[in-house]
This record gives sequence, structure tokens and C-alpha cells, in this order.
Amino acid sequence: MQSAQNPYNPGAGTPPPELAGRDPLIAQARLAIERVRNGRPAKSFVMLGLRGVGKTVLLNEFEQIAEQHGCQTAMLETDPDKPLAQQLAPQLHRILLRLDRIKKAGSDMQAAFNSLRAFAAAFKVQLGDLEFGLVPNPATGDLVVDLTDLFVAIGEAAKKRDTAVVLLIDEIQYIQKGDLGALIMALHKISQRQLPVLLFGGGLPQLAKLAGDAKSYAERLFDYPSVGPLDAISAKQALATPALRDKVKFSDDALDYIVAQTGGYPFFLQVWGAHCWEAAPASPITLTHAKKASEQAVAALDESIFKVRLARLTDRQKAYARAMAELGPEPANSSDVARLLGLTVAQSAPIRDELIKKGMAYSPERGLIGFTVPKFDEYMRRAMPAPKPKRTSRPAKA
Ligand SMILES: Nc1ncnc2c1ncn2[C@@H]1O[C@H](COP(=O)(O)OP(=O)(O)OP(=O)(O)O)[C@@H](O)[C@H]1O
Ligand SMILES: [Mg+2]
Repeated sequence: MQSAQNPYNPGAGTPPPELAGRDPLIAQARLAIERVRNGRPAKSFVMLGLRGVGKTVLLNEFEQIAEQHGCQTAMLETDPDKPLAQQLAPQLHRILLRLDRIKKAGSDMQAAFNSLRAFAAAFKVQLGDLEFGLVPNPATGDLVVDLTDLFVAIGEAAKKRDTAVVLLIDEIQYIQKGDLGALIMALHKISQRQLPVLLFGGGLPQLAKLAGDAKSYAERLFDYPSVGPLDAISAKQALATPALRDKVKFSDDALDYIVAQTGGYPFFLQVWGAHCWEAAPASPITLTHAKKASEQAVAALDESIFKVRLARLTDRQKAYARAMAELGPEPANSSDVARLLGLTVAQSAPIRDELIKKGMAYSPERGLIGFTVPKFDEYMRRAMPAPKPKRTSRPAKA
């Protein structure tokens, strides 16, 4: 069918033609936003899920809902190479400028700008035309203290203006541990003071572990809903609904086949959907078309995202990833991976940590390691020969 009419939209954070299966999460976010707008306590949450499940799409959706409810929003995609202070300051500046437009008597706005100015000076952040000049109360340079002060100043200014602040932070797993602790402590203070500030985050599943020292606060402060593949009904809806808008149907067995091939992962559903559209000359899209599309989808992924991800790895990281792949799609025991590599657990641990740092792998629990990209294990088995069994000098310990 005509490519120009193809409704599917595979990509990073690209809005799907049908946002299927996420109503409960959207309702949870909407409720939190409405509560915070009504001056009620509301729980922030951080969505945890693998690559391509739709975390960014959801954050964009929440941002829209927050704006519709008259909140001031700021969206941040965390950069692993920059300290959090540098990344947050411009966003908080933007929020302050917007709050400043809502006129209200009082000196609280000045106090909030001063707080930001002090913060920017302490953490060496350039903020457009914001004059550093003489700061009445210099910041301490301790992120926990300074970020808390700044959040409180912003929260108070928002409360006085009868609005709320919604921060959206994507790729939250890249926030360095100390910075994440500071962010959690600042939000903890905000919630104690019942100020109208909410955080919605998205990240890879190892985040909950990362929260470290601030963990006990973090556990009470946030929910961590997991975002996974779509169930079969939602996955079929994600495929069938956009096509139906153009009066194109899928046969039932074609839908079943695609759901099985994609495992219901949203990114793959978009890729498979797009290829099915190209493979079928007219409605309906049948099982034969779906099978052809599936081959093309796999070949296209091999040549694009999978290949790019593999190319980012060093030789020893590739070998580690290949050994992981040998153990199947589910997270594997690091000791089994080590054994396949002929290494002890201690020898292989630094390689495992490098893969985690690169966002290629995650550890759902102690001793386990899995790929952050679904189906990457299949790709690795296609792309590289199996590791030859090796003997370890010492038996690998768990
Ligand atoms: N609920 C959904 N129904 C159908 N398609 C979806 C859904 N959610 C996301 N998608 C599609 O899946 C793809 C990936 O979405 P998105 O980039 O938001 O995932 P992500 O979890 O942020 O991935 P990453 O961890 O790589 O950043 C996009 O093409 C998007 O259109
Ligand atoms: Mg994303």
C-alpha cells in the first residue's frame, strides 16, 4: 500500500498512531496532576522499563496533560556526561520565568530568582541573561542543600500563583548517584511542606537500585510502575486501529503472528506495522504479508539499531554480550556468563559494569544481567559466532 499513507511511526519518543494499553498509567498521572492542582498531596512516579516500551511517549503525554491543567512543566532528558545541576538549572529558570508572568504582589519571586542565581553561581551554570552579580545569600555548593532551597523557593512561588510545577525527567538512570540522592532529598522536603511540585520520570529498570542512600525516602516518595510489553489485546489494538482509520484490515492470524514475533513490544509493533503496510498491496493484511514483513523488519533492525548498538561496544564487551545471548532472552546469572567466557565472576564484573554504564545491560536483581533492548539476544546470536566453551582457572563463584 502507499508508503505516503503508512500510519506507523517507529522511532525514539515518536507519538504512536494509537497509544494502546497505557490507560491505567495515564489515569495515575492525571490523578496526581489534578490532586496537586487542588493543593492535595500527590505521589510522583518513575516508570521503569526496557528500551522501546514507550516511556518517553508517556512522559510527553503527561506533559501535555499537565499543561492542559495549567501546570508549569519542564522536560529533561538526562545526559550521562553532565552533572544534574547543570542540566536542571536552565529548566528551572524557564519555569521561574513562566511563574513570573503570573503577576502577584510579594517578594517571593525575587527570592526564587535569587535562589536560582545563587545555585547557578555555585554550580557554574550559565543562564542566558540571568545576572549572577551579587547574590544576597550565596549557595553552599552542596547539591542536597542548594537544590532543596531552590525547589522550596520555586514550590512556594508556584503555590502563591495557584499553579503547580511538573518536572519530567527521561533516562533518569543516567543521573549520577549523588545527584539522584540530592534530587530525592529535595523532593522529600517539597512533599513535607506540601508544595505543588511533581516529578514524573522514566528510566531503565536498574534505577530503583541506584537510589542508594536516599533509598528509604525514595521508596516512600515515589511509585515505580513498570512499563512492559503490551498484552495481546492492546498489541492488536496498536496494530489494527491505525490501519482501520484507512479502512485497512488485518486478518486474525496475521495479528496473532505479529504479536508473537514482536512480543508485544511497542517499538517493534510500530516497525512490524510499518513493514506490513508496505508488504500488502491492498486490504486485508494477511498472514503471508505478515511473514514477509517480519523477515524484512528483522533485516532492517539488524542493519540499523541493532548494528549501531553493537558497534558501540569494545571487543571484550561484545564477547560478554555474546555470552549473555547464549543464555537466552531472560536475564542471566553473571556467574554463568563468566563461566562461558572462561573468567571468574570477579574478572568479568568490570565488563558487566561497562555494559550497564553504556545502557546496554541492566541488573534486575543482584547477580542477574539482562539486555535493555528486547530481542538483542537473538541479534547477537545471528551476528556473532557462539563462544567456544572455555575452562576457568578457578571455578566461577556466584
Ligand atoms: N502504547 C503504545 N502503543 C503503540 N505504540 C507505542 C506505544 N508506546 C510507544 N509506542 C511506540 O514505540 C516506540 C518507542 O517509544 P518510546 O521512544 O517512547 O520508548 P522508550 O521506552 O522511551 O524507549 P527508550 O528506552 O529507547 O528511550 C515509538 O515508535 C512509539 O511510537
Ligand atoms: Mg525514551
